[in-house]
Amino acid sequence: MNILVLGSGGRENALAWKLAQSPRCDTLLTAPGNGGSTNALDLDPLDFEGLAKAIQTHNIQLLVIGPEQPLAHGLVDYLKQRTDLGPLKVVGPSQKAALLESSKDFAKGFMNRNNIPTAEHKTITAETLVEGFRFIDQLQAPYVLKADGLAGGKGVLILSTADEAKRELSLMLNPQKNRSEASKVLIETFLHGMECSVFVLTNGTDYVLLPTAKDYKRVGEGDTGLNTGGMGVVAPWPHTSPEFLNEVAQTIVEPTLKGMAKEGQPYTGFLYVGLMVVQGKPYVIEYNCRMGDPETQAVMPLIKSDLIPWLEAAAAGPWPTGTLEWNSGVASTVVLCSKGYPGSYETGLPLRLPESDSALVFQAGTRKTETQLLSQGGRVLAVTGLGETLPEALQQAYEYLDALNWSGGFYRRDIGYEWLNNESR
Ligand code: AMP
Ligand code: GLY
Repeated sequence: MNILVLGSGGRENALAWKLAQSPRCDTLLTAPGNGGSTNALDLDPLDFEGLAKAIQTHNIQLLVIGPEQPLAHGLVDYLKQRTDLGPLKVVGPSQKAALLESSKDFAKGFMNRNNIPTAEHKTITAETLVEGFRFIDQLQAPYVLKADGLAGGKGVLILSTADEAKRELSLMLNPQKNRSEASKVLIETFLHGMECSVFVLTNGTDYVLLPTAKDYKRVGEGDTGLNTGGMGVVAPWPHTSPEFLNEVAQTIVEPTLKGMAKEGQPYTGFLYVGLMVVQGKPYVIEYNCRMGDPETQAVMPLIKSDLIPWLEAAAAGPWPTGTLEWNSGVASTVVLCSKGYPGSYETGLPLRLPESDSALVFQAGTRKTETQLLSQGGRVLAVTGLGETLPEALQQAYEYLDALNWSGGFYRRDIGYEWLNNESR
């Protein structure tokens, strides 16, 4: 079959890498892709008509949607209405199901209605600001404020005093001072625990769990500095056990799928559940309606089975018998960023990638000219090492990045630090 992966990041290159290995795959295309993509189509993921045309032209039978924006804008609904696209299968949730990511207010209400464990919260608007102040006074520091709506990881503030929290809350809801569109802000209790990401692939009723992961979101070593899209990954999350996965399935995944179906919006496609594990008990911090980036770059190499039958089933159809097998061992991903990221940075800097027979190199913010490869974004490469142990996996990734020695960028040298007995690199 011909497969199109929509998106332009390292996540999409990792999906394409995995799917191209399947004997079921004839041609793998990406749109718009990046410097590391083969068969890239020059298409904006929000140009639904252009996309439908490309699906016809290239006789695409399976479309895998990488990023959240086209999902939140209703791409799956649009393509389902088009009866002229042949036997197309689309992996991703409907616009209404994607509200689990695109509206934090919806997600919180949904979790409360369905008894899914999550931090206590209150949703505040400009009219109910005083109620927000009162709620802050009832909570203990630190304070978590989240703008409703898609914010690309930048909508969350964690503040250490009640005064700061009140000031920021007022600013976020003040239309004169705030240029973003947050008309609602959520105040949440802060959960102290360990973060873990769980990935689900589902047709709305049946589901399978993919390898878990731990993402490093802060730009600085020791988890300091600004939040980013993700600086590195360890997969599986080192505390994953059959009992833990069973608890996540029973208390979170199944109530989520049943709740969405009951509310008339069955959830299909990839579901990424961001958890805080507090004394062994998982709480949902956020849902995302897609795979994580850079988690996918560590998760895909850990999947042993052919993913295509599971994607087809998640798009439309009967669930495969058998299990989705994971490889043993560990994957770790380290992200090479442009200097300055997540603030402003230069683009157009040349990169020369060494050959590697050990590390997997997934390009992200790159573009190819006729003669060279150039940097194009904040997160430039995601380099994944595989090993029987975490130190072995990390060594592969770091050896590659050390050899590349790119003067335009930087990377965190402490990915996996919690599990390395304070070894420094
Ligand atoms: P989000 O965009 O919802 O994933 O939040 C970004 C980051 O903020 C998360 O990865 C957590 O590290 C942190 N965070 C969000 N909500 C909470 C919470 N209720 N308690 C503790 N940390 C949180
Ligand atoms: N790595 C975090 C995300 O994809 O949202």
